[in-house]
Amino acid sequence: MSIKFSKVNYIYALGSPLEKRGLNDVSFELTEGNFIAIIGHTGSGKSTLMQHFNALLKPTSGKISIAGYNIDNQTSNKHLKKLRKHVSLVFQFPEAQLFENTVIDDISFGPKNFGYSEEEAINLAKKWLKKVGLPEDISQKSPFDLSGGQMRRVAIAGVMAYEPDILCLDEPAAGLDPQAKEQMMKLFKEYQQEGHTVILVTHNMDDVAEYADDVLVMENGNLIKHASPDKVFEDNDWLQKHQVLKPTAATFADKLSNFTFDKKPLTLDKLVTDISKNLKR
Ligand SMILES: Nc1ncnc2c1ncn2[C@@H]1O[C@H](COP(=O)(O)OP(=O)(O)O)[C@@H](O)[C@H]1O
Ligand SMILES: [Mg+2]
Repeated sequence: MSIKFSKVNYIYALGSPLEKRGLNDVSFELTEGNFIAIIGHTGSGKSTLMQHFNALLKPTSGKISIAGYNIDNQTSNKHLKKLRKHVSLVFQFPEAQLFENTVIDDISFGPKNFGYSEEEAINLAKKWLKKVGLPEDISQKSPFDLSGGQMRRVAIAGVMAYEPDILCLDEPAAGLDPQAKEQMMKLFKEYQQEGHTVILVTHNMDDVAEYADDVLVMENGNLIKHASPDKVFEDNDWLQKHQVLKPTAATFADKLSNFTFDKKPLTLDKLVTDISKNLKR
């Protein structure tokens, strides 16, 4: 199955003096089961796009087909709960939405809400508490007594605990320390490799290179490129024109003018292999 956007437009505050275009005729087709990265400057429409995947926003015009559901301007809110079990969105700073008295109640809220029994929900919550790297003994604590990083993990566990087919993450690692960030990224990659779709908004081009199969580049509400990481980072002139940064490895490789690369290396591992090949020549 695929996720398809056909000429999706979104206008904030339509018809008011504050009218603002969020998405402009966005069309693409994504393969389910992939790891998809969405990149672009602040204000380019990434969060607006993300909120369309689970119909938190509905297109002002155009159509979306996702997980067997069709969404357009006329879609009624009645049918959306089922969709949201399959397609979940983790907002930027999701810790702001914690609300239960204990960590375990907060994480099991989602599974319960989507029809799991009390016992199943608690078991899922325990499983995901561990998966996001939190110790079991915090399960009875108030989420508000935790550190910011721990709160973030609780919030992410709360969405992963009902194991949505399509997991959408809006800058989930923003503000985390580098080690926590890497753990999170590995968790998302593992989740995708177990047979789910992951859609991630990020500013980190190293993560795009390392984890993504497919990339959407947004600019001013327009989709300006949809391609593999290799293709997105191929053309230096295009990157410069649109002020898209390169992965660290690619920047490094471009400075090694005496070296030849069959294909621009995007990850540190690939860079090291290519450099040693050059040195052996
Ligand atoms: N609630 C809103 N009301 C009006 N305009 C908005 C709202 N949210 C976002 N926008 C505008 O829509 C555009 C896209 O924003 P957004 O999707 O948040 O971008 P990004 O996530 O890439 O930073 C920006 O110009 C932003 O100012
Ligand atoms: Mg955003």
